[in-house]
Amino acid sequence: MPGFELFDHAEREQLQDVMDTGILMRYGFNGLRKGHWKAKEMEAAIARTAGVRHALLLSSGTAALTTALAAMGVGAGDEVILPPFTFVASFESILATGAVPVMADIDDTLCLDPQAVRRAITPRTKVVMPVHMCGAMAQVDELLDICRQHGLFLLEDACQAFGASFQGKMLGSIGDAGCYSFDFNKIITCGEGGAVVTNDHTLLQRADQYHDHGHDHTNDDRGAEGHPFIGYNYRISELHAAIGCAQISKLARFVDIHRKHKQTLKESLADLPDIAFRRLPDPDGDSATFLSLFMPSEDLARRASNALKKAGIDGVFHWYDNNWHYIRKWEHLKARAFAHPLYKPLLDLLPDYATVAFPQSDDIIARTLSIAIKMGWSDDDVHRRATTIKHSLQNTLRTPASR
Ligand SMILES: Cc1ncc(COP(=O)(O)O)c(C=O)c1O
Repeated sequence: MPGFELFDHAEREQLQDVMDTGILMRYGFNGLRKGHWKAKEMEAAIARTAGVRHALLLSSGTAALTTALAAMGVGAGDEVILPPFTFVASFESILATGAVPVMADIDDTLCLDPQAVRRAITPRTKVVMPVHMCGAMAQVDELLDICRQHGLFLLEDACQAFGASFQGKMLGSIGDAGCYSFDFNKIITCGEGGAVVTNDHTLLQRADQYHDHGHDHTNDDRGAEGHPFIGYNYRISELHAAIGCAQISKLARFVDIHRKHKQTLKESLADLPDIAFRRLPDPDGDSATFLSLFMPSEDLARRASNALKKAGIDGVFHWYDNNWHYIRKWEHLKARAFAHPLYKPLLDLLPDYATVAFPQSDDIIARTLSIAIKMGWSDDDVHRRATTIKHSLQNTLRTPASR
């Protein structure tokens, strides 16, 4: 999966442009930079790829989510609905704005269940934040309808899904805003980086200002610029953007490779009677970075995960036992272990995450295994893996549970 698997001369040449000028800052230094504007160049490429009017490149996906929420005016006491299966960054970004993360169950798409979202809406809800997990889509059409009915923002956390689409529209481009991550482990990488995309000029302008200390970006002289509100520093550097420029030009090829490898694995497992695949609301839009499947029980999922590792299959995730991606292991959130006293006023507003129950999500995540797809595999590698995975799963399914 990670874009670094296929680094070549293109990344080196892009980096060399920046090294030759020495200008690492995305703004200013107009004469010295000799026409190189890597962040701007990548923003234009992201907007073109996503089919949106505006893209803002930032230092991370977490920064992008925080900035998008701030641009939407989310703050103290507001509620943002998100799934309990995501990466911790999703709830961290909500807490960073002083708002309350309210979790709603997922379904067999591994993403927010629209019915659970309806039940979670309160007069304080301001945003619904679906997370397009593992390279594929939430039921984003239904979620958009819900948001329109209730006057809420739809913010797509598409950090894991750059390159995926739903009914021909890029994930991230469907809601009021979307966020991507280009961290070290994503389908395309800047090393660290993220983006906010939107068609809404006001949201873009607020995000643009917020992510750079409130600079209004109306003057070539930074010292003379205005500051309409207090912001922060979530800027990307030109070095990171340069790598991203090379990587984004390869996105279509990267997605094709993932799809081909995933198809081979999927075909080999399709006749295992007790295994079901994750439901994809639009299979044609899958970026195919993971193959996710449901085992018949938690016990079988855990045993299959161990058997696959023993058989030398890396990149297997049993999310239920993973510390970072599912609420079951988010002890720090349950303990409200905030590092900063700024969060104190939030304590009375937060749900008791230690006792709130997600039986539907538990049932799904306890049985889910995801296998990461690597671009560096040769066709032989994929076929060998497919055979090994199939045998391991068959053996696991055949072996009765130990008592
Ligand atoms: C669903 C999700 N949201 C947000 C992020 C945060 O992105 P970053 O690592 O660029 O801060 C990630 C990163 O893995 C993610 O998976």
